Amino acid sequence: MIEEILPPGVTSSEAFDDAAPAPLFPAEAALMEGRRERRRRQFATARACARRCLADLGRPPVPLLPGPGGAPKWPSGLVGSITHCEGYRAAVAAPASAVAALGIDAEPAGPLPRGVLALIASEAELARLASLTAAHPAVPWDRIFFSAKEAAYKAWYPATGIWLGFRDADLSLSPAGTFTATLRPAVPPPVDPEYEGRWLAGPDLVLTAVAREGGGPPRAPVPATISAAALS
Ligand SMILES: CC(C)(COP(=O)(O)OP(=O)(O)OC[C@H]1O[C@@H](n2cnc3c(N)ncnc32)[C@H](O)[C@@H]1OP(=O)(O)O)[C@@H](O)C(=O)NCCC(=O)NCCS
Repeated sequence: MIEEILPPGVTSSEAFDDAAPAPLFPAEAALMEGRRERRRRQFATARACARRCLADLGRPPVPLLPGPGGAPKWPSGLVGSITHCEGYRAAVAAPASAVAALGIDAEPAGPLPRGVLALIASEAELARLASLTAAHPAVPWDRIFFSAKEAAYKAWYPATGIWLGFRDADLSLSPAGTFTATLRPAVPPPVDPEYEGRWLAGPDLVLTAVAREGGGPPRAPVPATISAAALS
């Protein structure tokens, strides 16, 4: 699924359960000691997805350990992102020469718990979401909104080390399956704070992805596609 919202040059791997064997390196297993079995399994399956991405990029399997702020430390010369939620685990990666920043997020497709949207959205964002909901009532806009902010944060944080709350971003979603996030840190942003992303909503899952092109040769923009699953 996730490949539908990624640009060329980004490799991905996903799983919908933890059935396949997903061995961990000792340093990774040590991180999961004392954690709940569900978390350990999701972590292991997502690591297996990440190592499939490494293999796609011609890299050997290595431990993927968390760095500052929890962001996974990818091998030198690569950028990547990991997500897991009920019924879904995924990793994406790309050469840093071609892609400067990557962030993905997965969420269950239902509406956000009551009261959450008011905590994470500004008045302007709430107004835009209300318009989208009026035009396309079957789409879980609030969940896509939440997921898109998390995807933008995952692309932003490894490059900046700056934590952002949900109110530190202004997010606009388009029914065409795209979004724009303007991040607003308290300090002058050390990188371009505008992120473009794409979203996909199916019956069970919402997926979002942010991929910023890096220093490689220019590539054609990815055409926006209407998410048929979401808008039907
Ligand atoms: C970090 C965060 C985005 C993770 O999202 P989530 O929906 O809770 O969980 P997901 O399963 O989708 O993602 C977890 C993975 O994100 C990655 N991750 C964690 N912290 C990260 C960070 N600071 N930067 C990039 N990736 C990070 C890790 O790989 C983690 O999986 P792992 O622990 O198995 O390695 C979220 O917990 C959080 O702290 N959000 C607050 C900040 C934010 O989103 N602000 C929005 C405004 S821009």
